[in-house]
Amino acid sequence: MTNERSEFQHISVMSQEVQGALDLKEGAVVVDGTLGLGGHAVMMAAKIGIKGHLIGIDQDACAIDLARIRLKDFKGRLDVVKSNFSRLDQVLKDLGVDEVDAVLLDLGVSSLQLDDPVRGFSFRADGPLDMRMDADAATTAEELVNELPEKDLADLIFHYGEERFSRRIAQRIVQLRAGQRIRTTGELADIVLRSLPRGYQRDKLHPATRTFQALRIAVNRELEVLEETLDRAFKHLKIGGRIAVIAFHSLEDRIVKDKFRTLAREGCAALLTKKPLRPTEAEAADNPRSRSARFRVLERIG
Ligand SMILES: C[S@@+](CC[C@H](N)C(=O)[O-])C[C@H]1O[C@@H](n2cnc3c(N)ncnc32)[C@H](O)[C@@H]1O
Repeated sequence: MTNERSEFQHISVMSQEVQGALDLKEGAVVVDGTLGLGGHAVMMAAKIGIKGHLIGIDQDACAIDLARIRLKDFKGRLDVVKSNFSRLDQVLKDLGVDEVDAVLLDLGVSSLQLDDPVRGFSFRADGPLDMRMDADAATTAEELVNELPEKDLADLIFHYGEERFSRRIAQRIVQLRAGQRIRTTGELADIVLRSLPRGYQRDKLHPATRTFQALRIAVNRELEVLEETLDRAFKHLKIGGRIAVIAFHSLEDRIVKDKFRTLAREGCAALLTKKPLRPTEAEAADNPRSRSARFRVLERIG
């Protein structure tokens, strides 16, 4: 399979599968709700052509700027909007669009965000504990780590990180923050590491992975906005229109699975993927970030 490689180093995940599943025709109206660096968008733009309309949404201003550059040769109608995809109704209303042929959500963070220490998403390089995809959003990971009561912090790490040592981690955070505010990804990763039983090696994941995932989900309200948006996106689909979602962890995939099944049971939609599609072995080897991807597609039939 060929991957869409960007000069800014985000490799679009499951591009061939997205292209096949959306089956876009010339002149289609498409929403890319997670524009990122525009990799999937460039591919969709080529399909919908000069009569097409591509609406790209991202809550990250840096991504928006880079995607605009990447899409500069698209000759159809292009609207690039800095917004949360949960505001889809308002975005479409502002553009005078009611119905669309396809919506794509490629969830989570881009490599642009993950690899920039200043954004605070990764424990691999030290940076401020931020984790906001939208730099204008109110709450940072630093605030959650330093201000949540111990029980709430433990619950957050348990539910959003599926971390069985959540209580020990929260307890240690609360002990240490009593002395000095915890400010960096490096400090937090170190605290997590020291909270685990000595010599404990659960799996190949870095011990801080689950705690960082939990904080990122909470900071960006990832599960809430996904849940709200699936209904909104479906409402704007034409009959025959499709919604495609790439999820990167089981919590978000469960939301997509349940919502798609409900719509199919109600008789207004057909599941085009009974089970989620996974990246090929070749893609997983070429792009390790794709390994956890699960791709589901739904078509509106009524
Ligand atoms: C995995 S990247 C998308 C990569 C893109 N498909 C490509 O091929 O370049 C996810 C992007 O979605 C954005 N994003 C995630 N959740 C969002 C939300 N609720 N609203 C708007 N943008 C969101 C992130 O800021 C990030 O830029």
